[in-house]
Amino acid sequence: MLVGRVVYSPHAHARIISHNLSKARLSPGVAAVLSSADIPGDNQLNPVARDERCLAADEVVCAGQAVYLIAAETDAQCRAAERLIEVAYEPLPAILSLDEAIAQTRLLGPERTMQRGDADAALRASPHVIRGELRTGAAEHWYLETQASLAVPGEGSEMTVHSSSQNPTETQAVVAEVLGVKKKDVVVEVRRIGGGFGGKETQANHVAAWAALLAGATRRPVKLRLSRDDDMIITGKRHRFLTCYEAGFDDDGKLLAVKLELNSDAGIATDLSFAIMERAMLHSDNAYFVPNMSVKARVWKTNLPSNTAFRGFGGPQGMAAIETIIDRVARTLGKDSAEIRRMNFYGIETNNVTHYGQTVERNRLQTLYEQLVSSSQYSARRKAVQQFNSAHEFEKRGLALTPVKFGIAFTTTFLNQAGALVHIYTDGTVLVNHGGTEMGQGLHTKVQQIAAAELGLPLERVRVSATDTSKVPNTPPTAASSGSDLNGMAVKNAVDTLKSRIADAVVAMFNEQSVSVPSRGTDIVFSNETIFDSLHPERKMGFAEAMGHMMRRQVSLSATGFFRMPAIGWDKVKGVGTPFRYYAFGMGVSEVELDVLTGAVTMIRTDILHDVGNSINAAIDRGQIEGGFIQGVGWCTTEEIKWDPEGHLLTHSPDTYKIPTARDLPIDFRIDLLKDAPNPNAIFGSKAVGEPPFMLSFSVWLAIKDAISAVAGHRIEPEFSLPATTEAILLSIEKLKTAPREAPAPVPA
Ligand code: MTE
Ligand code: HPA
Ligand code: MOS
Repeated sequence: MLVGRVVYSPHAHARIISHNLSKARLSPGVAAVLSSADIPGDNQLNPVARDERCLAADEVVCAGQAVYLIAAETDAQCRAAERLIEVAYEPLPAILSLDEAIAQTRLLGPERTMQRGDADAALRASPHVIRGELRTGAAEHWYLETQASLAVPGEGSEMTVHSSSQNPTETQAVVAEVLGVKKKDVVVEVRRIGGGFGGKETQANHVAAWAALLAGATRRPVKLRLSRDDDMIITGKRHRFLTCYEAGFDDDGKLLAVKLELNSDAGIATDLSFAIMERAMLHSDNAYFVPNMSVKARVWKTNLPSNTAFRGFGGPQGMAAIETIIDRVARTLGKDSAEIRRMNFYGIETNNVTHYGQTVERNRLQTLYEQLVSSSQYSARRKAVQQFNSAHEFEKRGLALTPVKFGIAFTTTFLNQAGALVHIYTDGTVLVNHGGTEMGQGLHTKVQQIAAAELGLPLERVRVSATDTSKVPNTPPTAASSGSDLNGMAVKNAVDTLKSRIADAVVAMFNEQSVSVPSRGTDIVFSNETIFDSLHPERKMGFAEAMGHMMRRQVSLSATGFFRMPAIGWDKVKGVGTPFRYYAFGMGVSEVELDVLTGAVTMIRTDILHDVGNSINAAIDRGQIEGGFIQGVGWCTTEEIKWDPEGHLLTHSPDTYKIPTARDLPIDFRIDLLKDAPNPNAIFGSKAVGEPPFMLSFSVWLAIKDAISAVAGHRIEPEFSLPATTEAILLSIEKLKTAPREAPAPVPA
């Protein structure tokens, strides 16, 4: 096996005037040095938008863009060869921020709008109006396993790629395309991923394509695993957003109108930017009914690596805007923000239709609110926070409750499908394969549970094998939190097929023993490792024994399964319809303590109540809630991506980029699953849980704002953005200290 290496652009934008690879090619241990001229197929990584080269040709368009590939016996030899590559760049002007992209109107595609009612007229008629802009930051996925692929050439044009990909089918397509072969020749296998978080929905394809090109050129297996620094420099991040907002509300705090303009930094190429912006637009209401709403969205192009999917997929960026609005409404009126939130929640019978026309069914916001306000002792703690703050000058506490309503389904509707392949062997054990990938979210465990429960077998009789494009083809990525909803159903479908075949054969066997009342297939039950007739329980057979009979009776014990999500669909052009199968709901209350002199924040306590329907696996679901929440806290607080003025990433390792660690968890961390809340629209009454808890971190973010606001006695609206780093907090406090003591006059409508 050879080791692969990517040589990437040091410039944000430059022309490649000339290069000479001959010295590098002769360097010890080197088997191949490739440039774009050596790609046998298409020099393209994006199968749809086709705007992302596999290797730069005559121009580089961002720092970190792949230009050359090296394969050698060792990593050290790769690095030595890299130093021998001679290349002359002519730097060109680069656009490195949203503001510059907007000033130069570098739109990546057409603007989109969604609206309901007449926001302008309603704003004019509103007793109170607030305006502002909110910036939310980029973020690094920080999957513990960096992007990695092992490509193994087979005979003829065969290529097998072991990839850390959330999207094996697309990895297969991209590998086939760069190699100039067909999909039948390429197998992508994913045993498990050391974390993806959306960062491997498209961009794992790139590493797989590079490894496959090197394997194809050398005819030897090549493993390419990015170092942490290279991974952070080369791959895309969460989209930065700049959102301009206007909101009108009445004296009670009821929203009358909201007008939003969402701007995202796509980086240099399309990737998933439009789908991400769409989800941002579809979540800019979060949990609130806004009678007059207008959302305008623009996706901007900059000379930075193409930004990509990241847990929440634009949802967090859209929700941050409306949560900021609600928070400001409360501050403007001098009311508790939790009360303003409750007042604006979607209703059960009325006010229950979103700005894009989907009815919010089985709305659990009120239930969650009542239970959480009580279990977290919100009111008593609000008073305690006030007392604490009046007694302390240099420490201030803040408290915030925030809701989450998150739509479940790919908004690209056709992606809501899944396939499975289930084999039963004659010893009564079961091998399950499905199109989803395991990335730590516990999908394979849930699928194993589903298959075992349906067949009446203990877990250890069922194995879920590695995801493999040659076993289950044409699958969507494991994303949009819908992995278990989709694949669980496909596996159940395959198991149902097998059970009905087995039941028919078992009935025939029972009835051969000259019974007076014959058994019927529909009465056959699979339970406790036995198969029996529920009307004649004495007619029974051990599961393993029965499988032996199946083989002898020539019954096929292998079946495929398929699932397509019903009852969804929407008009993307008009922005109206039912993009989601259902909503996941959650709510969090966080209390923080702020050191006013240093800006340091301690998370004192967080209470979360989350709706996972009838949980298939409560331990996994709690893990997802904890992990999603704390990953969101990182985005909201300490994780700050910085580039230098030439577009080089400054924060490319853990010494400059701070993700939360075990010590950053709330000191008192309480998670509860909502009880008695079955979901009729997913497997076993469960609910998707992968992404929604991420956005519960807004409770921490806004608790920090609440603590800052206490510094000036809640008389002045603090400056606030996301992430609320220590630095940002201190600057905001400084502004409050020097601001005039009077509250600013309300902005006239
Ligand atoms: N949990 C772990 N441990 N690792 C991950 O990479 N990805 C998240 C979430 N939870 C992730 C995770 C994201 S972005 C999604 S979309 C879902 O898991 C995907 O898996 P699911 O659809 O099976 O929930
Ligand atoms: N979520 C995640 N990935 C996606 C989506 C989505 O809604 N649509 C297309 N890819
Ligand atoms: Mo998740 S961002 O949909 O992979």
